[in-house]
Amino acid sequence: MLAGRRIVLGVTGGIAAYKAVEVCRRLVDAGAHVVPVLTEGATRFVGATTFSALASEPAKTSLFDDADPIPHTRLGRTADLIVVAPATARLLAAYRMGYSDDLLTATLIATRAPVVVAPAMHTEMWEHPAVRDNLAVLRERGVHVVAPGEGRLAGGDIGAGRLAEPAAIVAAAEAALRGPGRDLAGLTVLVTAGGTREPIDPVRFLGNRSSGKQGHAIADEAAARGAGVVLVTAADRASAPGVERIDVETAAEMEAAVLARADGADVVIMAAAVADFRPKAPAGHKLKKADGVPLVDLEPTPDILSELGRRKRAGQTLVGFAAETSDVVAHAAGKLAGKGADLVVANDVSEPGAGFGHDTNRVVIVSHRGVEHDGALVDKRTVARTVLDAVAEHRRAAGAAPAKPLHETEPEPTAT
Ligand code: CTP
Repeated sequence: MLAGRRIVLGVTGGIAAYKAVEVCRRLVDAGAHVVPVLTEGATRFVGATTFSALASEPAKTSLFDDADPIPHTRLGRTADLIVVAPATARLLAAYRMGYSDDLLTATLIATRAPVVVAPAMHTEMWEHPAVRDNLAVLRERGVHVVAPGEGRLAGGDIGAGRLAEPAAIVAAAEAALRGPGRDLAGLTVLVTAGGTREPIDPVRFLGNRSSGKQGHAIADEAAARGAGVVLVTAADRASAPGVERIDVETAAEMEAAVLARADGADVVIMAAAVADFRPKAPAGHKLKKADGVPLVDLEPTPDILSELGRRKRAGQTLVGFAAETSDVVAHAAGKLAGKGADLVVANDVSEPGAGFGHDTNRVVIVSHRGVEHDGALVDKRTVARTVLDAVAEHRRAAGAAPAKPLHETEPEPTAT
């Protein structure tokens, strides 16, 4: 995917600029023609000579070059891809606003090529609404964002905002070059998202830590790839225009909505964290403290995925998720068999940066053929792409050669 492609590697001024050297090396090793463009800030952290020595052309640092009078339009027009790593808060703001005051920002505005940005900054900056807002706008415009992870930052601080690993940035570059295409056009994809809430009384509920970010990312990505998407969500978060959404709260409501739409779906992806238990008899009025500690009697909820597995029609692809804290592949394989799914996307929710609430995730995808994908920690939109790639591949190549074989697994008992 990278061989022979012209990639502008933008580097901005943050301590993570040294990691861009590794990104440059990996892109060159993969056969890409890499042109580094450094901001003035970047050169305070890493010398242009370092990049010039590794890249396919000397590093560029200025809009004004006698030998190349309009470098930004030349670079912008000839690039197959622009990767900015690290991308500072300033770069994101300038790019969002179209404020082109240096060679990198001017090149970004002058290109029609896909763009990948890998932000890196201190946690306070990463969490600032201005940065969030700028990224949301850039994402809507189709910019690929490789979300940062958590870890050691400049000055000895630790937290969210650490540049994604070079391997994840290179993987995002490949995905951006591949482009979403419209490979899911003509398919109806039903996705569930979020954590259900099971009422104890009109005020209180039993819930879980699911944010719905992964399920919404899958729904948005499927719509971008041309699918007709129905999103049944228990999460209070936005979804892309074009996604038909059904908001639900409880497992029972989710079950009703899913079963009503499942027959018409070619692909069903159960990304929701459905409660396994619910209060048997929720109180109709608020339980009062003065009445003492209540005993809440629980009952199992219906297992929607298992029911979908029983009803699965020919040609339908069923994808389950598995949130685990140990033996991820074994449990995923057990759920695959026990629930009648075609693919199970599993993650270790106890791993730093993965699972509930984070912007990033690291997943293993298991099918009846074995482990189809065992990925790095990447942002949830990239995970969404990988899941949909696996779905497309499964539908294309049923019965193809086996993937990496599964280790011996204990079958998972059919869940509640
Ligand atoms: N699921 C479901 N209905 C439920 C519980 C889970 O459809 N009542 C689905 C989830 O959406 C997910 C898959 O089953 O796609 C696995 O969910 P998970 O919570 O990991 O597994 P459980 O079957 O609940 O088993 P356990 O909690 O014991 O790991």
